[in-house]
Amino acid sequence: MLDLLSKGLFHFLASSEGLKSLASTYGMRRAGFARRFIAGESVHEAIEAAQALEKDGLSVTLDLLGESVTKPPDAKRTTKEYLQIIDAMIDAEISRNLSLKLTQLGLDIDRATAIDNVRRILDFAQRFDFFVRIDMEGSRYTQLTLDLFETIWHLGYRNVGIVLQSALRRTTEDVRRMILLGARVRLVKGAYKESWRIAYASKRDVDQAYVRQAEALLINGCCPAIATHDPKILESVKTLARANDVAADRFEFQMLYGIRRDLQTALVAEGFRVRVYIPFGREWFPYFMRRLGERPANVAFVLRSVLRER
Ligand code: FDA
Repeated sequence: MLDLLSKGLFHFLASSEGLKSLASTYGMRRAGFARRFIAGESVHEAIEAAQALEKDGLSVTLDLLGESVTKPPDAKRTTKEYLQIIDAMIDAEISRNLSLKLTQLGLDIDRATAIDNVRRILDFAQRFDFFVRIDMEGSRYTQLTLDLFETIWHLGYRNVGIVLQSALRRTTEDVRRMILLGARVRLVKGAYKESWRIAYASKRDVDQAYVRQAEALLINGCCPAIATHDPKILESVKTLARANDVAADRFEFQMLYGIRRDLQTALVAEGFRVRVYIPFGREWFPYFMRRLGERPANVAFVLRSVLRER
């Protein structure tokens, strides 16, 4: 319950222009508070962060922050930026893996715009052997995102995967459908505030659903990504993999940049594959607020950083 209240509060604050402008004054400075979770505003900063992580045996996926784009030229510009990011990642010789959001590519404008833009990225990505993950946004977009994903899947694209959120009651069925399709799923708990009508209200229920769905994906899914920082779930997944003879190269763990770095390196030391999601870009405020909403203790960290600066 507390969890939902906190997500709701931060969801509300994320729409505050005043807070956004205050945050942009301090957040992205050299030692600004947002830098704990966001690699920087430029692709070069993201690549630097990626290179440092890859030195420690981790892989990465780069995410250009942005969402809720409503003007076609903005969606086009983001598409072009993704092509430039691919070029920069090739030059830097880092993992060929990207994450993106459909509302960044025009899903709020219309489906055709989003499909055209995502196909442009996938076509270019395919030429250079990149894998592209479509992030999952709030439940308003769940069906639209899955429909669009299936459309491009049936057009023959295979360098693309999807994200499913265990917090939603529908997800067990979506996991089953993606397994039948042979699609690659990243399983997350879900970062958005959702109504109890469609989502589990308690952390315990979300965690139980997560473990059940992770088990189905480990046994029958295609290269699932187990994306969580929850130590108990990580242990359950390791046990499930051992019990079902799922080799460590048939799945990967994924975590967010700046969160539980201790666990990230410990898993690598144990011989698991770990990919870190590196967000970057000028539109970092909503992403940053979601990270605060997940863990209100982060607010104290931010306040301390701002007071220190002032
Ligand atoms: P939980 O919230 O229970 O946290 C477990 C532990 O992790 C905490 O006790 C704490 O130690 C640490 N932790 C978690 N969040 C923290 C934070 N913000 N700051 C500091 N410590 C923290 N969501 C979504 O809706 N759509 C998406 O596409 C994605 N994509 C995505 C990619 C990747 C690679 C990851 C890891 C996560 C996502 N998410 C996401 C976010 C996800 O839904 C979820 O909100 C966060 O991962 C936090 O949940 P945990 O599973 O870590 O568990």
